Amino acid sequence: MAIATSHKQAGQASIEQRVEDLLRQMTLAEKVGQMNQVESGGDHAVVHLRHAIQDGHIGSVLNQVDVEIVNELQRIAENESRLGIPLLVGRDVIHGFKTVMPIPLGQAASWDPDLVRDCARVAAREAARSGVNWTFAPMIDITRDPRWGRIAESLGEDAYLASELGVAMVEGFQGDDLASVGSIAACAKHFAGYGAVESGRDYATTNVSENELRNVHLRPFKAAIDAGASTLMTSFSDLDGVPATGNDFLLRQVLREEWGFDGFVVSDWDSVRQLAIHGLTENDAASALAAATAGVDMEMAGGAYIHHLPKLVEEGRVDEAMIDEMVANILRVKFRLGLFENPYTNPSDLPAIADEHALDTAVQAALQSAVLLKNDDHALPLSVERLSSVAVIGPMADAPYEQLGTWIFDGDIQLSVTPLQAIRRMLDGNVEVRYVRAMDTSRSRQSDTFDEAAAIAGDADVAVLFLGEESILSGEAHSRADINLPGDQAELVRRVREAGKPVIAVIMAGRPLTLTNIVDQVDAILFAWHPGTMAGPAIADLLFGIESPSGKLPVTFPRMVGQIPIYYNQKNTGKPPSPDTIIHLDDIDPKASQTSHGLTAFHLDAGYTPLFAFGHGLSYARFEYQNLRTNASEIRPGDTLQVSAELTNTGEVPAEEVAQLYVRDLVGNVTRPVKELKGFKRLRLDPGQTIEVEFRLHTDDLAFYDRNMQLVTEPGEFHVWIGGSSETGLRTEFRIVDSD
Ligand code: NOJ
Repeated sequence: MAIATSHKQAGQASIEQRVEDLLRQMTLAEKVGQMNQVESGGDHAVVHLRHAIQDGHIGSVLNQVDVEIVNELQRIAENESRLGIPLLVGRDVIHGFKTVMPIPLGQAASWDPDLVRDCARVAAREAARSGVNWTFAPMIDITRDPRWGRIAESLGEDAYLASELGVAMVEGFQGDDLASVGSIAACAKHFAGYGAVESGRDYATTNVSENELRNVHLRPFKAAIDAGASTLMTSFSDLDGVPATGNDFLLRQVLREEWGFDGFVVSDWDSVRQLAIHGLTENDAASALAAATAGVDMEMAGGAYIHHLPKLVEEGRVDEAMIDEMVANILRVKFRLGLFENPYTNPSDLPAIADEHALDTAVQAALQSAVLLKNDDHALPLSVERLSSVAVIGPMADAPYEQLGTWIFDGDIQLSVTPLQAIRRMLDGNVEVRYVRAMDTSRSRQSDTFDEAAAIAGDADVAVLFLGEESILSGEAHSRADINLPGDQAELVRRVREAGKPVIAVIMAGRPLTLTNIVDQVDAILFAWHPGTMAGPAIADLLFGIESPSGKLPVTFPRMVGQIPIYYNQKNTGKPPSPDTIIHLDDIDPKASQTSHGLTAFHLDAGYTPLFAFGHGLSYARFEYQNLRTNASEIRPGDTLQVSAELTNTGEVPAEEVAQLYVRDLVGNVTRPVKELKGFKRLRLDPGQTIEVEFRLHTDDLAFYDRNMQLVTEPGEFHVWIGGSSETGLRTEFRIVDSD
């Protein structure tokens, strides 16, 4: 039976007082219990966990989403443990719960923080119905490697975009008040550097210089913490020789001392014990010591803490005061969540699953995340009036599970509306729709129905091919070394092309793909990522021009896998390439000397440009930017510069455009990227409408970590661009001059 304690009464006591009061009453075993998170999936959780919870040996459970079981576990914690401390109930709610939103990389293509916030809010409310009070999201690892399966879960390659959208996700999950019904704690992950795994192989080593770490990889984490993210998860990876789960530089120096984080850090799954597998420690006890000393407050699975920390304290190898601080970090979050006031869930306090708002949000997100990569001769949109038949072909046209993407533990496949269903519904007998799946899965090597596919394409006015990757080809431990369309899809494209009708490719995938071998075979490409539950209605609306595509790439699409890492904000190098310094190996004159072309940074077989650049995305409207200007040619530290341009919709349909602001700092104490995103705005324009797009750039926005790891804004010359992609050419200049 729990004893009555003052920490239970909210009253006037501050959270810090309540934490202190509770800590004072806790035994060492109970403290370490708070640092222990266990798997509790399955129907027998109550039987399995009852005694451990009664004894105060569990602080958190993960993967239990049966609300009755969760409530019973909370009841045991409240009424049958000595101090009645409620449980944190964690779950990977990554891009939706029952209603599945586009994968995070797809959401990032919307460049719309409000929408991303709404998606997270819907997910939080649906998950909260099950008693979940903590999600392991957002994942804000910066990655420049589409081979990495977890790029699907990321917000792309750019630290600014990922920061803005990561913050929006934190706000969506946590709401205005963490203690209110429908708010769940967020977990920014994976701290840090995970996105830089060598060759995109999941869990592989990372080598990131401190300067790169601070200027790129850490920025979204700082932003998430400033936005109030309650928790952080460590990375599985080994960062510069010190695995993240044992990395005191990251977890103590940066996170606590420099950033003042007062939430808690959870390890990744069993990553404490993996310190021994990495070769950092000799055994589980040493791993518990290393992780706790480094600053991992809670261990997810593994049991090294619960088994070894009490003894390590008794032996004097771990200071109990340090344990107290770590437990305080955990309790603080429990208090902030209001769990001591009410740990129970009443689903009827929350919106119904997949209600109208959830489904509308899912449609909107799928609409805004799709990127029109190419559209020759206005192949899209299709006109219902001018068509009499459409051939729908491919393994992703009617694949209700595959369209959901990775990490959908709770996603309800019954809610999925596929593109084939939506197209049939939209055309409703007025236009004939014929369908050949052609391949069982995206990986199939079976061409026996390709003739049939080509035949229905030949008979139709247009062929719409639904290609891509099934969901299992991306996500954790699902990296690929070859990122072409898998299986015989390229052959399918070729065969359908031969039918001589316009060919539209709609691609659903968890990563950028190398599309070089099909790009010239199709008239248009709509890249939809894994769009989630409402893929069908959104894609049908886009194909038939009810809506105009407006997504922009949050990540660069390489021509060939050998170009990776290729990203827009590269350094200039001492020998930057240009169109007239490069040559293709097929064009090298056999008699030429080694230096007959410029000695610059390019590949003889791929040049130096991507297939599709960061920020790229076409529309059914036409957007023109002009008259770029700043309100000053010189500013001083502390000033704000206004940068503006006129944006006109010179097309014939209303549409949304994402205007992007880029900057280059020409000379730095450390070399600076050739372009850096510093702002973006999603704007809706009617045909013929012109609007003034204005950005405000504070000199702090131009700060970077110098070679002494100091955050500085240096005087000097800057280039600034506004446009519809990172390739925009509309540029002007300004200078920062010294104050004196
Ligand atoms: C391992 C993954 O790396 C992490 O992102 C996830 O949250 C945990 N497993 C829990 O499922």
